[in-house]
Amino acid sequence: MDRIEALKYRAGATAKLAFYAAHYGLSRATSAPFDRPGEAPFSSDKPKPDLARMRQAYMAAFNQDMAHIDAGLYLAPLAKTELAQTRKSLAYLRDVKAIDQRRLAKNGVEVREEGLGEGFPAYFRQNFHWQSGGWLTPESADLYDFQVETIFTGSAGAMRRATALALLAKSLKGLDQRTTTCVELACGPGQLAREVMRNFPRLRLTALDMSPPYAAAAAKALTPYRRATAISGAAEATPFETESVDRVLCVYLFHELPPKIRKAVVAEAARILKPGGILVLADALQTGDDPNLDRLLDAFPVGFHEPFFTSYLTTDMKALFEAEGFDFIEGAQAFLTKGWMFQKRIG
Ligand SMILES: C[S@@+](CC[C@H](N)C(=O)[O-])C[C@H]1O[C@@H](n2cnc3c(N)ncnc32)[C@H](O)[C@@H]1O
Repeated sequence: MDRIEALKYRAGATAKLAFYAAHYGLSRATSAPFDRPGEAPFSSDKPKPDLARMRQAYMAAFNQDMAHIDAGLYLAPLAKTELAQTRKSLAYLRDVKAIDQRRLAKNGVEVREEGLGEGFPAYFRQNFHWQSGGWLTPESADLYDFQVETIFTGSAGAMRRATALALLAKSLKGLDQRTTTCVELACGPGQLAREVMRNFPRLRLTALDMSPPYAAAAAKALTPYRRATAISGAAEATPFETESVDRVLCVYLFHELPPKIRKAVVAEAARILKPGGILVLADALQTGDDPNLDRLLDAFPVGFHEPFFTSYLTTDMKALFEAEGFDFIEGAQAFLTKGWMFQKRIG
């Protein structure tokens, strides 16, 4: 990356930080205090984070992202359009009150009262993050990225790239993309799938998400890429043939799943991958990965509806995958996200 490119990258990252920090600040300022009135304040046995070290960890995610771009592992992200996203900004701010009311009422299953997602598993029919519509409406799919970037003050894209995209890119080195098939499980509205295709346009990618509106948003995001499609389906019971897939990618799904379903998803990934195939996973940091951030991780399921996050925090992910026939190859860590590359054992 030459000096101009590096400056452009840094300017983009700083603008994102300011933009999303402002939205976070506004949403906090217009919401009730973090501790619900009448309830004991949040407590954790973990120490309060050292803010200087936290800022360093935040910046390190962008530095890692830049280093990967510099090393040619993947392309620099496209110039940011968030600043022009007045419509999303307004929609986000309009939704803050409804989110806060749901949080104060501890109503994580409003979607069921609204009759949304009938026929979907109970673990899925929830207002994750207290989001309006849970995973179940086009409006939620439209706002999801904006909300996630706000939660992570503009670092979500960099964290996804520095962990998942970096590991996937490493695993694709030397392969003929045209004959390589990749499945992304729980693709959300398709932000990473689009980035994967931008970098590897000859890959055959199928992005899958349980949510029909999110899968539809992903299909839209992938329209420029004719070798990529998006479908709606369960990560634990996919429509793919046994041993038919070269790469499986999965980001920010495992912390949203009950333990039994996590295990079923690993088994399903093992079923569809060819022997020697690679699974790239990225998800939230777990307890102990960065002790300075442990308290933040404990607070996350309190501030946001995350019914399975606490059990995720102490799940031994390597053991979970090894039990289903995977070997750990390489890891990555960027601020509040970590990545794993696993290989399906041959024989
Ligand atoms: C936290 S979001 C992650 C989305 C995206 N991968 C990202 O990087 O932001 C979780 C996604 O998982 C999907 N999901 C939840 N349970 C699922 C399941 N069992 N099978 C497939 N998708 C699922 C939700 O619809 C939602 O889009």
